[in-house]
Amino acid sequence: MKCLVTGSNGMLGSALCPQLSNKGFEVFMTDINTANSAISYLDIRDFNAVKERVGRLRPDILFHLAAETDVDKCQTCADHAYTVNTLGTENMALACQAYNIPMVYISTCGVFDGKKSGPYNEFDEPNPISIYTKSKYEGEKIVKNLLHNYFIFRAGWMIGGGLKDKKFVAKIVEILKTKDTLTVVNDKIGCPTFTKDFSECIIKVIGLGRYGLYHITNDGVASRYDIACKIVEYINRNDVKVIPISSDAFPLPAPRPDSEAVDNYKLKLLGIKMRPWQEALREYLQEINQDVKAPK
Ligand SMILES: NC(=O)c1ccc[n+]([C@@H]2O[C@H](COP(=O)([O-])OP(=O)(O)OC[C@H]3O[C@@H](n4cnc5c(N)ncnc54)[C@H](OP(=O)(O)O)[C@@H]3O)[C@@H](O)[C@H]2O)c1
Repeated sequence: MKCLVTGSNGMLGSALCPQLSNKGFEVFMTDINTANSAISYLDIRDFNAVKERVGRLRPDILFHLAAETDVDKCQTCADHAYTVNTLGTENMALACQAYNIPMVYISTCGVFDGKKSGPYNEFDEPNPISIYTKSKYEGEKIVKNLLHNYFIFRAGWMIGGGLKDKKFVAKIVEILKTKDTLTVVNDKIGCPTFTKDFSECIIKVIGLGRYGLYHITNDGVASRYDIACKIVEYINRNDVKVIPISSDAFPLPAPRPDSEAVDNYKLKLLGIKMRPWQEALREYLQEINQDVKAPK
């Protein structure tokens, strides 16, 4: 199986590409960020370049990961967000349509408005409230409308990436190098998603050949405060005080839904389980050489 991956240099790409290679896929990695020489340049905004590359390579499957993932930048630069996340996805889907290639699109559990009291499943109607989540959801609709053979995988709050980690865990680990107090928002919830577990699961679902939409997150729901408390506990920093605060005290350009909690409902119906986020977080902290204490 020959596959083309966009956004290979990112947090998810750095977990998915090695796993695909280990499973015997011949992986062609692309990105606009080609710091790693194994990655070739492909800007998903460039329709002609996309068509040419996909037509020349004719992969058996295309993994579309590339996106503008800075939620606040998307809010203040909407044209950029829609150009990358929506039109870029349309370019990939049109190329897949032209050459009859199955497409994998990575979306987000943030597409819901967060007003539901319980977790959202795949049959709940999205109602995105920020430019980032709107631009990603428009991408989903385009993939569905243009293709028969597609997988849309919605991920939760991503954990992973090591040096590529731009998200919450990396930020907390960095702060803890110099501080012994953390002030963390406790009134927004979501489902942490370890890139390694997510990658394993999407390869499994693709292997089933059941095209469609899936939620894939680690098991369990958490606030950022809960995650920070677990990081402090796992790396044995008893000296650190974690103080919960309301998101009102920490205004950001992009609105965040109160709840991004989801159920991996279709995975459950198919008998596929994900491990708890706490186990995944512990393993990730070990991977990035934090001094993790043994579980009780
Ligand atoms: N991170 C999360 O919490 C999260 C949660 C749910 C879903 N997702 C989705 O998961 C996918 C992978 O995200 P990630 O966390 O791996 O994000 P990431 O670390 O930001 O990786 C995305 C990669 O795409 C590249 N890229 C940006 N614009 C591009 C363009 N025009 N053409 C080609 N490549 C471009 C980025 O380069 P630059 O770094 O130079 O911009 C980066 O290397 C995305 O589709 C994202 O929407 C992420």
